[in-house]
Amino acid sequence: MTQDWTSLMAHMPNRFAPSMSKDHPNLPVVREEGGYYVGPEGQKYLDFTSGIAVTNTGHRHPKVVAAIKESADHLIHGPIGVIVYESILRLADELAGVLPGNLDSFFFSNSGTEAVEGAIKLAKHVTRRPYAVSFTGCFHGRSLGALSVSTSKSKYRRFLQPSGLVYQIPYADPRSRFPDENPEVRCVEELEKDFERLFAHQVTPEEVACVILEPVLGEGGYVIPPKAWLKKVREICDRHGILLIFDEVQTGFGRTGDWFAAQSFGVTPDIMAIAKGIASGLPLSATVAPKELMNQWPMGSHGTTFGGNPIACSAALATLEVIREENLLENARRMGAHAMERLKEIQRRHPIVGDVRGIGLMIGIEIIHPDTGKPDGEATLRILDLALEEGVLFYLCGNHGEVIRMIPPLTVTREQIDEGIRMLDRALTRFEQETQQPATVE
Ligand SMILES: Cc1ncc(COP(=O)(O)O)c(C=O)c1O
Repeated sequence: MTQDWTSLMAHMPNRFAPSMSKDHPNLPVVREEGGYYVGPEGQKYLDFTSGIAVTNTGHRHPKVVAAIKESADHLIHGPIGVIVYESILRLADELAGVLPGNLDSFFFSNSGTEAVEGAIKLAKHVTRRPYAVSFTGCFHGRSLGALSVSTSKSKYRRFLQPSGLVYQIPYADPRSRFPDENPEVRCVEELEKDFERLFAHQVTPEEVACVILEPVLGEGGYVIPPKAWLKKVREICDRHGILLIFDEVQTGFGRTGDWFAAQSFGVTPDIMAIAKGIASGLPLSATVAPKELMNQWPMGSHGTTFGGNPIACSAALATLEVIREENLLENARRMGAHAMERLKEIQRRHPIVGDVRGIGLMIGIEIIHPDTGKPDGEATLRILDLALEEGVLFYLCGNHGEVIRMIPPLTVTREQIDEGIRMLDRALTRFEQETQQPATVE
């Protein structure tokens, strides 16, 4: 690192909350370029994080940059409602065209957390019911409301006593809960029993405003539920007049190979929270619902100063155009399938890789202790460091930090996938050498 960077970084512990500065790996970056981050000395890192599933169109896509510049030249801030501007009007129309079902009315905000807060508030307002049901392991954000439905890690909730108006039931985990049985069928059976128990012992369905879930578990470990499980959740909600909320903050904008996971699974929610990939890196999010539902949320029941910022809306319009023009949904499906094939081969050679699972370009590589089969978060962290030394940046997830998430930009090429996986392969081998674990060679 350069002298400047070393001295700047030295101040970090005094200037930043540890909850902000101590994430992994805190990599110094001076520039982002397509699929890469560039460090202060010109080092290039292949980015398999997309800034945590945000830069789906690649870093600084020229069309997105042009849209941002063009907007900044004439309008930077627009408190929507006080003024109105073209980009937000066009964006609402465009989004309605790619969202599933009749999700066509929007409340724009700035972050995933806010979109989730809006979704829960809307559901409670419309149903006049007090309770929410969420699923163990899901992550929905860090404000007190969003946190009340988030249980990916208990440390996020410590001392905060998030609202008690939430009940939790287990998320589908086809692999670890029912490894030897027919997981599809068993997950659905268990779901029905979980709801029956909940409604019989803890809360009547008539008191439940909403069921909220991530259609693919993100922060909780990249778990992909069976389609039948999601369909059953939909059916149970319909039976009791409960609104179904999908948190598509991470799964949206092509990540799963469709515009939204709802389309990948063939299940449409009543309310959706969208963010992250929406504007290729500018802060923007939305709570989305059919207009018949949204129109029951009167003026003053929710509000925002910055939500739907004009520059962010322009970046979002360019993002949608790039996803369409460059066939990024198709690329996510093709590159995802290719990566899964390569990673399965790596799993066969490295016993510390316990599982590889994915949908589109949302892929989890689970690291275990080979003797016990237990999740190994410590090893995962070391492997990530070694992978970074090789030149590829990954991020973590999972309750024990045991899952490497591989979420490259949807613009990723076959060569970049191969290059990144080769680097991961070398990192795994180096880890095995360090810890003297034998790799199996076929
Ligand atoms: C599924 C999901 N929901 C909500 C959030 C919160 O989004 P934000 O950090 O933009 O508030 C995240 C962030 O990682 C997420 O993955």
